[in-house]
Amino acid sequence: MTANYNIDGSPPGDGRFFTITVSSGKGGVGKTTVSLNIAIALAQRKRRVVLLDGDLGLGNINVMLGVRPVKDLSHVIDGKCSLEEALIKGPWGISILPAGTGYEDMADLEHEARARLLATLHDLRRLADILIIDTGAGIGTNVLSFAMAADVILVVVTPDVASITDAYSLVKLISQRPGFGRLEMLINRAPSREAGEEVTVKMRGVVKKFLSRDIAGLGIVPEDQSVQQALSMRKPLLLSHPKCPASMVLRSIADKLIAELRQMELQFKPPQLDARLEKIISRIDAGEQGEDGLPGAVNGGEAG
Ligand SMILES: Nc1ncnc2c1ncn2[C@@H]1O[C@H](COP(=O)(O)OP(=O)(O)O)[C@@H](O)[C@H]1O
Ligand SMILES: [Mg+2]
Repeated sequence: MTANYNIDGSPPGDGRFFTITVSSGKGGVGKTTVSLNIAIALAQRKRRVVLLDGDLGLGNINVMLGVRPVKDLSHVIDGKCSLEEALIKGPWGISILPAGTGYEDMADLEHEARARLLATLHDLRRLADILIIDTGAGIGTNVLSFAMAADVILVVVTPDVASITDAYSLVKLISQRPGFGRLEMLINRAPSREAGEEVTVKMRGVVKKFLSRDIAGLGIVPEDQSVQQALSMRKPLLLSHPKCPASMVLRSIADKLIAELRQMELQFKPPQLDARLEKIISRIDAGEQGEDGLPGAVNGGEAG
């Protein structure tokens, strides 16, 4: 059931391609749940989606779907297999690209390997309209690099105080670097609509006050026990519990993303992943580091 359309529903082939990274400061807030289910919602709206699984922890996409990858992005980068060979077919025609160590060690890649990574990501546009990157936990260089390369940076936040402060740190790091995409947030595991709105207001407030930036709230996903049930069934929530409250919100968020990407497409030439990535890579090559002297690591050790 592979969808075969551009973001605006037109047939593919004219190279329009968008990248959405799903990130958070803190691990375990629901990035993988959100990435996988938004990917499926977009596929159900006839978009061709590739999901780059950058989460090497336990709760990754392969585990959620009960599939075992044989090849990953590192094999593609090393020239050991083709992009197609590394892609895992998921539900609704989505493709999953396990990042493997090619992603983990991006900052350490030799120039030639980086060029191959670029070529691989460029090659993705043959196969997809939208690339969703589940960045995994922490704020390492790779998370930042991918966030900087994205058209939309979706920050997942829960009402937990540590999640809010870590999300703020991530937004701060991103906004200190030039040329990032649209910053948006999704509140997950909200015990009530009011609690979710409170988090939205708090995040918007601190981001505005201390960073002079706007961060839009895309939606509030409720705490929903179906999420855990879906996980134990090794099925995406949207397919196991299509009518549960969390699924309804995730679908509406996917619709908002489609509307937004369409708007971006109309308004200006979308920032292209490869051009941005090339810029970032040349900065990494030049040894540019974060303000703290580290290549952006704040919270890199957390599992997630
Ligand atoms: N809306 C939700 N309601 C209930 N549980 C959730 C919700 N979102 C995520 N979870 C649970 O939280 C845990 C972490 O989710 P996961 O998507 O793996 O987070 P991350 O990728 O950020 O580490 C999982 O056990 C998942 O089932
Ligand atoms: Mg995860």
